[in-house]
Amino acid sequence: MEKYLINPNQKISKINKDIYGHFSEHLGRCIYGGIYVGEDSKIPNVNGMRCDVVNALREMGLPVLRWPGGCFADEYHWKDGIGPKKDRKKMINTHWGGVVEDNSFGTHEYFELCRQLGCDTYINGNVGSGTVQEMNEWVEYMTFDGVSPMAELRRKNGQEKPWNIKYFGVGNESWGCGGEMDPDYYGNLFKQYNTYVREYNNNKIKRIACGPNSDNYKWTGIVMDKVKHKAQGISLHYYTLPNGCWDNKGSSTDFNRNDYYRTLCRAYKIEELINNHIAVMNAVNPQQWVQLVIDEWGTWYDVEPGTNPGFLYQQNTMRDAMVAAMSLNIFNKHADRIMMANIAQTVNVLQAVILTDAEKMVLTPTYYVFKMFKDHQENTLLGSYLTTEYIESKELGKSFPQLIESASVDENGVIYSTIVNTSATRSSKIKCQIADTRVKNIRAEILAGDIHSKNDFDNSNVVKTEEFTDFKKFSDGFTVTVPPCSVVKLVVE
Ligand code: AHR
Repeated sequence: MEKYLINPNQKISKINKDIYGHFSEHLGRCIYGGIYVGEDSKIPNVNGMRCDVVNALREMGLPVLRWPGGCFADEYHWKDGIGPKKDRKKMINTHWGGVVEDNSFGTHEYFELCRQLGCDTYINGNVGSGTVQEMNEWVEYMTFDGVSPMAELRRKNGQEKPWNIKYFGVGNESWGCGGEMDPDYYGNLFKQYNTYVREYNNNKIKRIACGPNSDNYKWTGIVMDKVKHKAQGISLHYYTLPNGCWDNKGSSTDFNRNDYYRTLCRAYKIEELINNHIAVMNAVNPQQWVQLVIDEWGTWYDVEPGTNPGFLYQQNTMRDAMVAAMSLNIFNKHADRIMMANIAQTVNVLQAVILTDAEKMVLTPTYYVFKMFKDHQENTLLGSYLTTEYIESKELGKSFPQLIESASVDENGVIYSTIVNTSATRSSKIKCQIADTRVKNIRAEILAGDIHSKNDFDNSNVVKTEEFTDFKKFSDGFTVTVPPCSVVKLVVE
């Protein structure tokens, strides 16, 4: 029997709802077809946004959406995506499949999408191929309420009032697709571009500097040193590639148990990365002005056979649900230093929460994890500790915990605990004690399946959350048996 302690007296920090954020790029069928179908589509839509997708995302609880990229952001020229659609420039999406980008989804459409989703905004600016003036004018266009050329242009295009930008990314992957820069050079560019990201009408903008890829600690140190007085966040990108290489990443559905454990072991690396990057950040900036933003994370497999290799379309199984639940519990546990995280990429791309095929829509196992975890948003993280066995990935010579959990409390004193059991075969019995608490009532739900279980367009309801009753309440805690390959959420009143 594993021992689990939750300590409501140890209130660690608020869990920023933006840890549950998403990322949608002009890539494959994420925006076009997946979210935006245009006003003339037969698919039910409001101002071009698919009603089914918007409703599902609202129910799941999507707090913030990063756009327009990714690599696409550093080739995006915002003026191509405003004004009458028939006049908008058509261009080649060179990064993603070489298809025509008709710019029918632009700034106005993005803010309309966020309005429908009820979410906050995270715009990623173009440092790689854009000018300082272009970035400056975009911010003026979006947020200035007075008399100015850009505010007038916005009004001419139908938007009287300015919008609000919560986060603004100054470049994306500037070490790679965003310009192949050195950290020193990027750090200087950040300062230059960021100077002209002006704040109008009390719109306080949180500025995100381009941070490292995976374990590039050198990048973090050098960039932090340059940006610490001006940035509120520094980004980290980490993708889980089952085979650890780009030319043969592995299939999203056709995998064996070793592949499953290897994938989870690689996903668990995020904890080490968070700890180490935060240590570097703290060394450079002990005052901790700058927070960590994991604005691209998730699984990355070979594309589904027969689909455009540049579209990054992959299926999603219970393996992905395990990666998501593991990662979100880890993010919660570091809520004091993580300001935001954005899974890549919402619909039809990489570890998507939704898949679409024309008018059909499927919710993936990852979707249900986000929906289960949404109760943690804006709660207070509690001190908690759970004993666990470790699972070894023999090929990697490394191990990871079978059980990973986090616990939070809302403003009414209700405690939420999410526990993931990553074992493919072994259930786990847990005895939980909640310090100084009299438990009145517990309800629970579960997401469970075989490691290969998935939802597809023929069988869309194979994986879904269900009520869970395999627990026993005590005066100051509970016992619970968590099945293999499952996520259990307990709500303790
Ligand atoms: O999410 C897909 C791509 O991965 C993004 O465009 C880029 O930032 C990263 O390399």
